[in-house]
Amino acid sequence: MNSSANQGERLLPKHLAIIMDGNGRWAKKRFMPRSMGHKAGAAKFKAIARYCSKIGIPYLTVYAFSTENWKRPTEEVGALMGLFKQYLKDALEDLLNDDIKIRFLGDTSVFSSDLQELIAETIQIGEKRTGMVLNLAMNYGSRAEITRAAKSLAEQVQHGILQPQDITEKLLSEHMYTYGQPDPDLIIRPSGECRLSNFLLWQSAYAEYIFIDVLWPDFTTKHLEDCLHEFTMRNRRFGGV
Ligand code: IPE
Ligand code: IPE
Ligand code: MG
Repeated sequence: MNSSANQGERLLPKHLAIIMDGNGRWAKKRFMPRSMGHKAGAAKFKAIARYCSKIGIPYLTVYAFSTENWKRPTEEVGALMGLFKQYLKDALEDLLNDDIKIRFLGDTSVFSSDLQELIAETIQIGEKRTGMVLNLAMNYGSRAEITRAAKSLAEQVQHGILQPQDITEKLLSEHMYTYGQPDPDLIIRPSGECRLSNFLLWQSAYAEYIFIDVLWPDFTTKHLEDCLHEFTMRNRRFGGV
């Protein structure tokens, strides 16, 4: 079984996921505040998302803010929230021209009311779109996601809607934020860190990983193309021979 999208001659991942890491170090190298790194990272994200849509990647997920990122200084969190709002405002206008369908992974109920309104509007407009699905993982953590799924299933059992023996891998998958989407085929993490940091643990059981030693604001479409090429060279066996 190969779950990749075949675009003509080209084998592309059907679902690409990116851990957009290294903004802070990028800024530090330039003696700038970390918030400037996030600004550069946001601009890079916009460009890369457009490119993915253009080359025909059906699903793109980006890790924008983890459940652990609240530990950061208030000022930095505030700067990130400001960038999210700006991105969504711009995207709402762009979406009229763009065909990208934005969705959100994570608990968005804790965000400020104005950000939540933007999120709701973005989802609504996205419903009519048919192009690339762009998942923004915001206040996302895999452990929180799996815990939420377990709770929901436990409640259904408690109310007699479900029997424990009915709980299958498929049913658990259907309780993840990525419900209805293919699992990621390829996960790229720039910045040189070689860890997942609580990202898509359930969904990445058979994902290919590429850890690349480039800070996210320096990541280019050329780096992406190199990663996509490397992906085509991987021999995916899914436990078979
Ligand atoms: C990723 O860049 C952005 C977020 C986590 C929100 P970092 O801010 O983690 O950058 P580094 O890892 O400190 O360089
Ligand atoms: C992961 O990066 C989260 C995002 C990129 C949004 P972190 O920078 O938060 O991860 P750690 O702390 O290095 O593991
Ligand atoms: Mg980091």
